[in-house]
Amino acid sequence: LLGRFGDELNLPVYIVGGFVRDLLMGNPNLDLDVVVERDGLSFAEHAAKRLEATLVKHEKFLTASLFLKDGTRIDVATARTEYYEAPTELPQVEVSTIKKDLYRRDFTINAMAIKLNQKDFGLLLDFFGAKKDLENKVVRCLHTLSFVEDPTRILRAVRFETRFSFRIEERTSQLMLEAVRQGYLEKVSGQRLRQEFEKILEEPKWLAALKRLSDFEVIKRMFPGVFYTVTMEQKLRSLADFLPWAEEFFGNVQRFYAVMFVFLEYHGDTAIEEIKARYGLSSKFVDELKLLKKMIVPLSKVISNKLNFSDIYKMTKGISPEGFCYIAAYLDPESQEYLKQFLTKLRETKLRYVDGRIIVQKFALKPSRLIGELLEEVYCAKLDGSIDDDQEMQFVEKK
Ligand code: CTP
Repeated sequence: LLGRFGDELNLPVYIVGGFVRDLLMGNPNLDLDVVVERDGLSFAEHAAKRLEATLVKHEKFLTASLFLKDGTRIDVATARTEYYEAPTELPQVEVSTIKKDLYRRDFTINAMAIKLNQKDFGLLLDFFGAKKDLENKVVRCLHTLSFVEDPTRILRAVRFETRFSFRIEERTSQLMLEAVRQGYLEKVSGQRLRQEFEKILEEPKWLAALKRLSDFEVIKRMFPGVFYTVTMEQKLRSLADFLPWAEEFFGNVQRFYAVMFVFLEYHGDTAIEEIKARYGLSSKFVDELKLLKKMIVPLSKVISNKLNFSDIYKMTKGISPEGFCYIAAYLDPESQEYLKQFLTKLRETKLRYVDGRIIVQKFALKPSRLIGELLEEVYCAKLDGSIDDDQEMQFVEKK
């Protein structure tokens, strides 16, 4: 259909980027990136009308997004060349041909297009040997300034390499390392870097990707003071082992923060503040980090030694899901199991028959802090399994 709309306006239309790459690899991809030669905006308006889609235009960038009723999103761009007045600044945009549009992209494997106009429908445009690189499982940049112009591509290279089990090509590796060493990552906004970093953490093989980032000296550049040692890797591995369970259990775990606990545990306050400002870390996280830093060793011992659930409960009040993942980073598999049992029991345990009001009435007491403490004792006894639902009141009476 998109090709036909192009024909109606006499405009060449292509599908490009990740969609083409994934199509050739046999992977599903619902991200539709369309490039139109000469005039993407008119094409987008025309297509939006015909498809009864909602249109959002970004005139300045000559791009638009179509939102179809079935939820599909189609991004439309005008074929363009970008040139950079200064590295890492936003590029200047100039209308051009599909070939030049593809050349400004990050890697060969992302720089293919398929023509959609009826005459050449399905024609694959591969100007830079991308098919061969796909066959050889190689991530290769298109030109020597690629990482200087957009240093976030350093992280993207690692993401694609680990996702597809490819290898970053030798020359590309050199260019990445040079850009890192010349300080180009520091020129990118923290927000963009964090976004790319978070995308890496969403990959199933994120742990391997972090190792690669450290090979390219990205970790210590992005997070000054973080040294990717064997010990750190072990902790991250334990965290990675625990994560699937935690994500299922808590529903949502922000991997970024879970990893930040491990990265920043030895940082002093000033260093933490700097990283907080750069990457927009929440104050809640920083407070929890400061607290957990002090508690992590005793806490992991309490769990490894399988102390009572009530002891763990008292030490972990207010800890976030990410904080629990950090604790798990310190635990061997058996102790992680104990932590899971604790969290499960914690969630199940509720006071069924007693609450503050009932105690006040039944024993003709004035509301006070002591009652709160008493309720806490009942709760702990239930957590430890020393009383069950029916024994709640008996326990209170005895006290
Ligand atoms: N692109 C680029 N440089 C970047 C980001 C994107 O050249 N820093 C180009 C690539 O051609 C990429 C396309 O824009 O294929 C779309 O970007 P994006 O949606 O981020 O990546 P995908 O390749 O679609 O990857 P993913 O599967 O992760 O969505």
